[in-house]
Amino acid sequence: MWVTVVAMKAIAIKAFGGPEGLATVELPDPVPGEGQVLIETEAIGVGGVDALIRSGVLGAFRSFATGHVLGSEVAGTVAAVGAGVDVSWVGRRVWAFVLQGGYAERAVAPVSALAPLPDGRSAVDAVTIGSSAAVAHFALRNAHFAPGESVLVRGAAGGLGTPTVQLAARAGASAIAVTTSSPARGERLRALGATHVLDRSGAGEDGFDVIVDVVAGPELPAFLDKLNPNGRLVTIGLLGGPPPADFGTALFAAFQQSRSFGVFSLDSVPDADRYAAIAEWLASDLEPVVHDVLALEQAVLAHQQLDAGEVFGRIALTPR
Ligand SMILES: NC(=O)c1ccc[n+]([C@@H]2O[C@H](COP(=O)([O-])OP(=O)(O)OC[C@H]3O[C@@H](n4cnc5c(N)ncnc54)[C@H](OP(=O)(O)O)[C@@H]3O)[C@@H](O)[C@H]2O)c1
Repeated sequence: MWVTVVAMKAIAIKAFGGPEGLATVELPDPVPGEGQVLIETEAIGVGGVDALIRSGVLGAFRSFATGHVLGSEVAGTVAAVGAGVDVSWVGRRVWAFVLQGGYAERAVAPVSALAPLPDGRSAVDAVTIGSSAAVAHFALRNAHFAPGESVLVRGAAGGLGTPTVQLAARAGASAIAVTTSSPARGERLRALGATHVLDRSGAGEDGFDVIVDVVAGPELPAFLDKLNPNGRLVTIGLLGGPPPADFGTALFAAFQQSRSFGVFSLDSVPDADRYAAIAEWLASDLEPVVHDVLALEQAVLAHQQLDAGEVFGRIALTPR
């Protein structure tokens, strides 16, 4: 008897390190299990976190094996459903959180991790806005941001920073400062709502009510010192590596200022709230900041652009 094994193209990590460690491979089609759907991908989001997994940096926090297929965010059409899932999902266009396996022609996602794609939202738009806008939304909420307060977004030009600037502007921030590596990127951030453009050191401006930080790293204490009394700094990314072990000293040295520090991960937001927020931002008029749209097989190029620091906003991969 002949057995047909349907294969799909995917991008796997063959060796941790540089972008050239990514390779196009053929894998069997994933099969949706109980409570899951199979998605024919139209666009796949490429995030800074993918580069951290590929380089091996995130291996210090979670173990990843060679053969790992990157990609946590896709948009496309539901092609099949697993046990216990309403068949009316088949044929619907959705955004989905897939945890891993997104850099592929087909991916499985829990049915609880879908947001419907509104008419007029392309798949590329969806993976650019999707979880990035949700991180920005909940990070500002986590920082207790209130209209009229001043905000600094550190690492503003990337996938998470750009929607944070946009959402702070929409929510009525009195001033929005950004750190970035060039005046040209600063101009693009001004077009999204930034009012003050700083270099990566943040030199020249102090006195923020809220700092949303995508970087952490050795300079974190210097940014804690930029908070107003009762100010709140929330770290949402570790692009600069972990902070120095004694970074809390800056908070204690300024005890009378009642400043706060916290970290925020979207993983801590209950599913229902998270996917409702994503559906809401997908249905809004938020403009996606798309750096480039590349073919799935160009994942190496996408990661080279990330490593070169060229990306403004997000890159999307398209499988066909
Ligand atoms: N909290 C959550 O729920 C959540 C969710 C997803 C991802 N993450 C984390 O967020 C991070 C990725 O964020 P992203 O996708 O926005 O990254 P990204 O798109 O790669 O860009 C962030 C920007 O930060 C700046 N930058 C990079 N390295 C820097 C450094 N060492 N010092 C100062 N600035 C630097 C760069 O802009 P300039 O060159 O203009 O300075 C870069 O464009 C990862 O750490 C990931 O684990 C968190």
